[in-house]
Amino acid sequence: MTVQEKTLVPGLAGIPAAESAISFIDGQAGILEYRGHRIELLAEKSNFEEVAWLLREGTLPTQSQLDAFSANLRAIRAEVPSSLVTAIQSMPRDGHPMDALQASMAMLGMAMGHPDLTDEDSRVLAADRIIALTPVLVAAFERHRQGKEFVAPDPDLDTAANFLWMLNGEKPDELATGIFDVALILHAEHTMNASTFACRVVASTESSPYSACSGAIGTLSGPLHGGANERVLNQLRTIDGPDNVRAWVDERLASKKKIMGFGHRVYKVKDPRAHNIQALMGDLFEKLGRTPIYDIALELEKVIAEKLGDKGIAPNVDYFSGIVYEKLGIPTDVFTPVFALARVTGYTAHWLEQMRDNKLFRPGQIYVGVRDSKWVDIADRG
Ligand code: COA
Repeated sequence: MTVQEKTLVPGLAGIPAAESAISFIDGQAGILEYRGHRIELLAEKSNFEEVAWLLREGTLPTQSQLDAFSANLRAIRAEVPSSLVTAIQSMPRDGHPMDALQASMAMLGMAMGHPDLTDEDSRVLAADRIIALTPVLVAAFERHRQGKEFVAPDPDLDTAANFLWMLNGEKPDELATGIFDVALILHAEHTMNASTFACRVVASTESSPYSACSGAIGTLSGPLHGGANERVLNQLRTIDGPDNVRAWVDERLASKKKIMGFGHRVYKVKDPRAHNIQALMGDLFEKLGRTPIYDIALELEKVIAEKLGDKGIAPNVDYFSGIVYEKLGIPTDVFTPVFALARVTGYTAHWLEQMRDNKLFRPGQIYVGVRDSKWVDIADRG
């Protein structure tokens, strides 16, 4: 059968693009596993650095492996090139933080040099550099944007605590660090989503992992993907209290607009990560006070279940994450960069997997244009 005779599947929905052993989703049952480990268990028992190791290596680390991995991430962070920080400090302050991150990921590749793709140690080092330094890139741009001094990484802090430190210039307490760490675990990996696919497509050309991650970050920024999280909060802010939710939904659906934070290509039930994020809110609200917008979010979830539940439309990971990030002092347009700094663990795991058995992505198309056109001289046209 020629490509022309095949049937197009729009958006490649459900078409396998690769074999992968990194994560698994059952979208009907609401199950997500990283290397066979259920996300609920990882959120309860693990930590982000351990999960980063698990995604990359395929098994849980021993204590000494984890200590060495964590020490390596801290050592890499401590040597963040000053030229990179200076370059970030020359970026336009009013640009979107996701654009800044996409650009600074490419600059990180310039500063670090490209790995030897034929050497596993060189590839793993590049992956560690991306995992260790992406949070630094995000924090450096945010400080610059606010007209504040760059905060140097603290070698005593792990990835979650260090990011909050570099962002806010204050040592986070145990509650904030613990909650942020769980949020990073929940965002670390998610099978063949659009940005991971983009990462693997770029990787398949034997381009550098920095350009693969930069391409993935650009893909993540869109509102149908990771960019939904900041839009969810903006959307909730436009609803004037729980009593107005129903009228707001009716108006939105009548004008055929999507409701941000709902729906998923794979899940047809509530995203398990949305349950996990909600579970964090009890402690957070007890310590820092309840966010009024949360009551609007709960009412909106109820109304959407009534109106769109039979289509399998339910909250996704982006629905509640912003409410948590806001409480931790993270600005709304930094939500998606925070998603990205967790997701680079998934991207780099996929990059390594792709590199171990690479085949260039080069899909076909179904041509629907004209053929064999007649040439008309410019003077004789229309
Ligand atoms: N609000 C209202 N209706 C929605 C919806 C939403 N968030 N998500 C899907 N739908 C409806 C569509 O309008 C469509 O209805 P129709 O069959 O009557 O035309 C149907 O559900 C299927 O939607 P479609 O966009 O084709 O599904 P998809 O699998 O391509 O889309 C998303 C998945 C994520 C792109 C989509 O649900 C969406 O845009 N959600 C909002 C953005 C978001 O939260 N993204 C983060 C994802 S983690």
